Amino acid sequence: MKYDFTTLPERYGHDAIAVDLPTEGKGHFEGVTIKEGFDVIPMWVADMNFVCLPDIQQRIHERVDHPTFGYFNNRKEYYDSIIRWQKNRHGVTDLEPKHIGYENGVLGGVISALNVMCSKGDNVLLHSPTYVGFTGSIENNGYNIVHSPLYRDEEGVWRMDYEDMEKKIVDHKIHAAVICNPHNPCGRVWTKEELLKCMEIFERHHVYVVADEIWSDLMINGSQHVTVQSVNEYAKYHTVGMYAPSKTFNLAGLIGSYHIIYNDWLRERVEKESSLSHYNSQNVLSMYGLIGAYSENGEQWVDELNQVLSNNVNYAVDFIENNFKGCTLAKPQGTYMLYLHCEDFCKERNMDMDTLLHKGWEVGVFWQDGRPFHDPYAIRINLALPTERVKEAFDRLYENIFR
Ligand SMILES: Cc1ncc(COP(=O)(O)O)c(C=O)c1O
Repeated sequence: MKYDFTTLPERYGHDAIAVDLPTEGKGHFEGVTIKEGFDVIPMWVADMNFVCLPDIQQRIHERVDHPTFGYFNNRKEYYDSIIRWQKNRHGVTDLEPKHIGYENGVLGGVISALNVMCSKGDNVLLHSPTYVGFTGSIENNGYNIVHSPLYRDEEGVWRMDYEDMEKKIVDHKIHAAVICNPHNPCGRVWTKEELLKCMEIFERHHVYVVADEIWSDLMINGSQHVTVQSVNEYAKYHTVGMYAPSKTFNLAGLIGSYHIIYNDWLRERVEKESSLSHYNSQNVLSMYGLIGAYSENGEQWVDELNQVLSNNVNYAVDFIENNFKGCTLAKPQGTYMLYLHCEDFCKERNMDMDTLLHKGWEVGVFWQDGRPFHDPYAIRINLALPTERVKEAFDRLYENIFR
């Protein structure tokens, strides 16, 4: 490998809630005391514990060295980098600069899009389990979420229930849906056929779509991402696509994402909504961060990252299947998250979820309460760490809980 995915970067004292909240016993981890002899292994918030691609820092350094920081427009290189990235990574060939628009964050972009598609109080279709960020941002902005539950088929693969989706759309007069592709926390990379089935339903009932594709670069075991907008003409012109280098390259602290919208009317309405706060503007360093990330070296870095994540996923899923009796999960095809269902384990041991979560935290394994994602027995586990740390975490969980 050309890049380093084995060194654990020093994150203490370097602005990282991943380690700060567990260490300080704050936020989700209030009142948690880590037993002596255990350090923190952060496996919760969706950021990564790898050193970043050097080109990102290099481009930012070069810009910082120039002593002017006035108002600016996005450089041509910014749009070129996105267009090249989308072509090389996702096979998108019809993207033009005008289709691309800056958004501070993906969630903010989702809300701007819903503001165009809905009136306040309207119902919006989402799958459950549901990423907590959707729940918070959509409800905070006055929309009502209607869930269509995903289910696991005979092979344990997460599937959409098309009948349920259509019924909910009709019953609740729904005209906007959020599709998370790949799905957080279930890790499904939706296929073209699955997305087409959705689109048929959406077209029949005049439903516009927000496609959150923030995880689209993180592909496990050779999965191939299909962009929602690519599946047919209806999808292309009725979907707001949301992307960011933040999940792929671990740049959440830099801020910066973008939308892709092909439909001129829809794009102009979304841009208007996004502009209303007067806060939705790019930071010049974040622009250079994206240019460094969406580069040839960035492509190699992500290819190598995906190998490391695949190894971690394969290791963890095997380990759980062999050692965590009473827990089930589907192997993710994308993202770096596991979504572990612990119902039988809890019932057999007569243990509640709070106790189970605490037992992990006490030995330094900071896995995440999965209940807010809408499964009362779930834990979400972030595997974006050097493999040795993942192994250490699973050994600790086995020795101290599941043995
Ligand atoms: C599906 C999904 N969308 C959006 C976000 C957050 O994006 P942003 O910080 O750009 O709003 C996350 C973060 O984990 C996510 O998992």
